[in-house]
Amino acid sequence: MAKAKTVFVCSSCGYESAKWLGKCPACNEWNTFYEEKVNKEVDAFGKTTRAKQNKPTELEGVEGKEESRTKTGIEELDRVLGGGIVKGSLVLLGGEPGIGKSTLILQICDKIKGEGKVLYVSGEESAEQIKLRANRLNIHNKDILFLGETNIDNIAQQIAEIKPKLVVIDSIQTMYSEEITSSAGTVSQVREITARIMKICKEQAITTMIIGHVTKEGNIAGPRVLEHMVDTVLYLEGERYFSYRVLRSVKNRFGSTNEVGMFEMQGEGMVEITNPSAILISERDGNPSGSVVVASMEGTRPLLVEIQALTTETICSLPRRTGNGLDYNRLTVLMAVLEKKAYLPLGRQDVYLNVVSGIRLVEPAVDLGVVLAVASSYKNIPIPKDLVAIGEVGLTGEIRAVNLIEKRLKEVEKLGFKQCIIPENNKKLLKDTYKLDIIGVRNIGEVMKLFK
Ligand code: TYD
Ligand code: MG
Repeated sequence: MAKAKTVFVCSSCGYESAKWLGKCPACNEWNTFYEEKVNKEVDAFGKTTRAKQNKPTELEGVEGKEESRTKTGIEELDRVLGGGIVKGSLVLLGGEPGIGKSTLILQICDKIKGEGKVLYVSGEESAEQIKLRANRLNIHNKDILFLGETNIDNIAQQIAEIKPKLVVIDSIQTMYSEEITSSAGTVSQVREITARIMKICKEQAITTMIIGHVTKEGNIAGPRVLEHMVDTVLYLEGERYFSYRVLRSVKNRFGSTNEVGMFEMQGEGMVEITNPSAILISERDGNPSGSVVVASMEGTRPLLVEIQALTTETICSLPRRTGNGLDYNRLTVLMAVLEKKAYLPLGRQDVYLNVVSGIRLVEPAVDLGVVLAVASSYKNIPIPKDLVAIGEVGLTGEIRAVNLIEKRLKEVEKLGFKQCIIPENNKKLLKDTYKLDIIGVRNIGEVMKLFK
């Protein structure tokens, strides 16, 4: 008998190599390679995709219809999807275990009312467990059918018999195909299953939602290996111990990818938050030093979030910097700018930063807020409670203009703030007038003067 052939596959991005590598050359992740047997007779795609030969057609002659969409009625989700789920599309929902993927999907299943049957295939939970969750979410819907199955052939057969309008696969890592020798959750299984499901659903125009767990460990394949195959990739993010969840679209063939939806995990499931800023800053108490509100654009919507900073004299030889919800490298750059350009001696100070409510801010427009919060804590001078800071801080200490300033200012005004510090270059070009005291700043020196 011939020796079984093996390859080494990166569990993060699916890169294949003949020998083991410590660092993946494709995605630069460390320790993600593991050995996998290759099935000699059938290649993962060969059998299905090479069966039929297609001929080229004139593109001009192809009839292009607007894609038809189903609104779920969950507005935060519809917006992220670009106006509802496109019929017959394949959506991947990724996220860490326990973040609320199954809960959100079950709520979606219930909302697709009157469209036909929904087939909920689970390899993780039993019918009783799903029923308990449905009861908790107050979902009583005869159109939802449960199938506890992990073999793709049996699933394909059930789909053919039931002809559902929506199929849910919870989760892709528990499904397997007998044609592949490796165990469920490996890259080749995950890819094969996705290719099969895609084929079944595209042929029969069935909308499909696949749940994929994201983990850092190497033994199960992350959803990233199948991002290129599906139409839409959504990620559900959030800190596990905070109740807020952010639904982010990272790929969308039918819409924009910078929209985000906000939810709160409550006793009765995922509840959408339509006015996130008001909720995120509702817990501000008193007017302590080290706290400032910033306006960050999340997709097309501005989000007002509080940033808190604490500086204390260090007892270590190397001062600590931590930034919960902020990019660490960005943080160290801003600390360096404060030290050199604003003469703030942070070299002997530990600096702790936190974005309240577990939201992650990635936009440079929050720089000014970070700088102000740190300076406020160091000097122990509170920043006025009714003030919002917007602006990017450059390496020479200049305050750089940000995009969509008018949108941000409208939100600041709407939420009852009275003052706003913005880059001078933005202020010059403002068209609208606001019921706000708008302070334009050019560089960090001018910002520091506000403390005097
Ligand atoms: P779940 O949807 O099972 O997560 P995932 O599918 O991403 O692994 O949600 C798990 C958590 O959500 C669990 O800790 C309980 C909590 N939860 C609520 O807080 N409210 C609810 O209504 C439900 C159904 C779950
Ligand atoms: Mg689940």
